[in-house]
Amino acid sequence: MNSPDTSADVSVIGLGRVGLPLALSFADRGLSVIGVDNDAARLHSVGEGAMPFEETGAQELLAHVHASGRLTLSERVADAARARHIVITLGTPSFSHIEIDMRDIRSALDDLLGALQPGHALTLRSTVAPGTTDFVAGYLAKHRGFQIGEDVFVAHAPERIAAGRFLEEIDSRPCIVGGVGARSGEVVARLFGAFKAPIVQTTPVQAELAKIWANILRYTHFALPNLLMMDCERYGANVFEVIDLVNRDYPRGGLAQPGLTAGTCLRKDFAFSEERSNAPGMLLAVSRVNESVPLFLVEGIRRRLGPAPGPTQGPAHGPAGLGSLSGRKVAVLGLAFKADTDDERDSLAHKLIRLLERELADVVAHDPHVSTPTVAFEQAVADADVVVVATNHHEFRDPGALATIAQHASADCLVVDPWNCWGAGQVFAYASELSALRAPSA
Ligand SMILES: NC(=O)c1ccc[n+]([C@@H]2O[C@H](COP(=O)([O-])OP(=O)(O)OC[C@H]3O[C@@H](n4cnc5c(N)ncnc54)[C@H](O)[C@@H]3O)[C@@H](O)[C@H]2O)c1
Repeated sequence: MNSPDTSADVSVIGLGRVGLPLALSFADRGLSVIGVDNDAARLHSVGEGAMPFEETGAQELLAHVHASGRLTLSERVADAARARHIVITLGTPSFSHIEIDMRDIRSALDDLLGALQPGHALTLRSTVAPGTTDFVAGYLAKHRGFQIGEDVFVAHAPERIAAGRFLEEIDSRPCIVGGVGARSGEVVARLFGAFKAPIVQTTPVQAELAKIWANILRYTHFALPNLLMMDCERYGANVFEVIDLVNRDYPRGGLAQPGLTAGTCLRKDFAFSEERSNAPGMLLAVSRVNESVPLFLVEGIRRRLGPAPGPTQGPAHGPAGLGSLSGRKVAVLGLAFKADTDDERDSLAHKLIRLLERELADVVAHDPHVSTPTVAFEQAVADADVVVVATNHHEFRDPGALATIAQHASADCLVVDPWNCWGAGQVFAYASELSALRAPSA
């Protein structure tokens, strides 16, 4: 087999939430790694040994890899070709008109084209629309005349690890490899053989479909209880009790719990199916359900608060019978898209805050994880008329958090907890009710 003239084992292009832990893990297994990113601040941070985001255990791993000297950094994509294996972990957003945005991948391919030699193996680790791996292979064949699978290798090996669990799951979750042509799968499987996880070989399009459908399943799984939560409000029913009735001792149950379902992957990966859907609109409807939860919560708050004290002002739009949030203090707990992460990308907490502000509420946020500055917990809930748990961080699930709210918020503070953080089983409840529920029986 041809071997390109290389000085490292593997390059990772895009040192984001997927690429950086992967690069560190390869280095940890003894491979020499080139990490490439066009964000100078990110490279500087990694070069200084400081993780630019939270990932369990990654800070210690970065220190260890630093000391080993097995990770070098570069701003130039073409430098990735100094390694035999090139792994692309660039972002793949969706355009707002529902189509994969491949500009970062196209740009990296163009930068690599002139530097690729027979023997190179290119792995697409980013989440992509079906057909993208074949497009990448076709692009290299068209512009360089390579025989893909014979002299240059291309495969899709999708990232399937949950944020915060990378180091635990890289060795256990099956690694899917969909190679183009005769030998790409085998060559790329050898790279991922650095980890202990089983490798499952398949075709490129099946690897692409498996990745996006895992996320579609999850997005839909959470849309159902979210829709039920809204239906329960209409019928005066309790969503947590209905879910318990569905699931209790019933083998065909399995309804999930409601919440603010979002995040950069769930919110856009469905679009990679929807762009060529056989059931156009079906997954868009799933998305719209999850996207409606912040508005549902705001309207639920308005309905319960009644008119604002003092002269009426502010928006009078929306369904009749809704109260006003003008001048009311609303504490939003959590800005991250899910529990115990500092990742705010595509979090519905921000949408919730925008909607509250459009009702002229005085919004104060607290989040102990994110880098966006927020106020301290006690300060956020002090004299609040409403407290909304937007993210179920473990700090908020502590009964002490509820006690602090009961102690410091206004006497009739409304607590909005779609996550059921304190087990009270009510999306909307008053702090006084909740703290009575938690009080030890006499
Ligand atoms: N974040 C997750 O938990 C997760 C999980 C599974 C799959 N994915 C998928 O993995 C891919 C990467 O996601 P992410 O969250 O790590 O993205 P990210 O935005 O955190 O990382 C992308 C990195 O690429 C860099 N970059 C952008 N353009 C570049 C260029 N032209 N050259 C060099 N560097 C460039 C950015 O500076 C950034 O550091 C996406 O396709 C995503 O859908 C993400």
